[in-house]
Amino acid sequence: MPKAELHIHIEGTLEPEMVFELAARNNVALPYASVDHLRAAHAFADLSHFLDLYYACMAVLRTEDDFADLAAVYLRKAASQGVTHAEIFFDPQAHTSRGVDLGVVVRGLRRGLDTASAETRVHADLIACFLRDRPVSEALDTLDALEPFFGSLIGVGLDSAEVGFPPGQFAPVFDRAREAGLHVVAHAGEEGPAQYIWEALDVLGIERVDHGVRALEDPALLRRLATDRIPLTTCPLSNVRLRGVEKLSDHPLLDLLDAGLVVTINSDDPAYFGGYVGDAFVEARRELDLSDEQLRAIAQYSFDASFTTS
Ligand code: HPA
Ligand code: ZN
Repeated sequence: MPKAELHIHIEGTLEPEMVFELAARNNVALPYASVDHLRAAHAFADLSHFLDLYYACMAVLRTEDDFADLAAVYLRKAASQGVTHAEIFFDPQAHTSRGVDLGVVVRGLRRGLDTASAETRVHADLIACFLRDRPVSEALDTLDALEPFFGSLIGVGLDSAEVGFPPGQFAPVFDRAREAGLHVVAHAGEEGPAQYIWEALDVLGIERVDHGVRALEDPALLRRLATDRIPLTTCPLSNVRLRGVEKLSDHPLLDLLDAGLVVTINSDDPAYFGGYVGDAFVEARRELDLSDEQLRAIAQYSFDASFTTS
């Protein structure tokens, strides 16, 4: 089934095999003896436990070719799972803080996406995310550094550890991004409270909520999201792996749909969470008993919620 993927972190597509390949290519020492040892570490207690490994593994990404290879491999995989349009997150600060030039990151990703797009006809856009557990001043500096690359971006987002990092403090960053004509999204209500979703809507002016599953705890918020048709980019496999829900059959996707929300299914960090977006559709269908009509509606919502048409 054709679908758009709207919540995918390119660094979260770094499969253990590629971690080892790039570590060898760049002479980076790894604290894991083998691919199997690394894969065995993919058992997470929560978001911050996952993020520790996610940031550690991306240390192997050094050169423009590394970023190009990562992006091209992802887009080919996405194409094989029915994705025809992808809006892809990347974390600039996770690379610049390690001394990797921002131009290396953006040019590499864009080149890899262009190469794979030409082969697959999948349209791909980039969204730069700010790390909410880093200072606002660093996000502002990062936005400045991104300015020469605005033509390569469709938007900005907000990710990383959520609880204790309310989104509202990033208002000056998001104000400037909106003034520059960029789309704005934010992770909210993944582990954090419904209040963070309100703040992301009202203070940051976001157009989509990434995750947003905790909106279910607030009926007034559900009405707001339904009335304004603000899409949610949910990631059911991620919520299971990061213990937001115990098992997929407990996932609140159907409750969100029943509340009248524009709900999409996405993969988040497929190399870490056990599947790409097509796998997420298949598993959600099986475990949540989704009808063909519901699946078609979710796939249609992914195009309705996208920022650009292919
Ligand atoms: N949540 C927040 N930040 C992230 C995630 C996530 O699931 N994946 C990569 N960065
Ligand atoms: Zn995410």
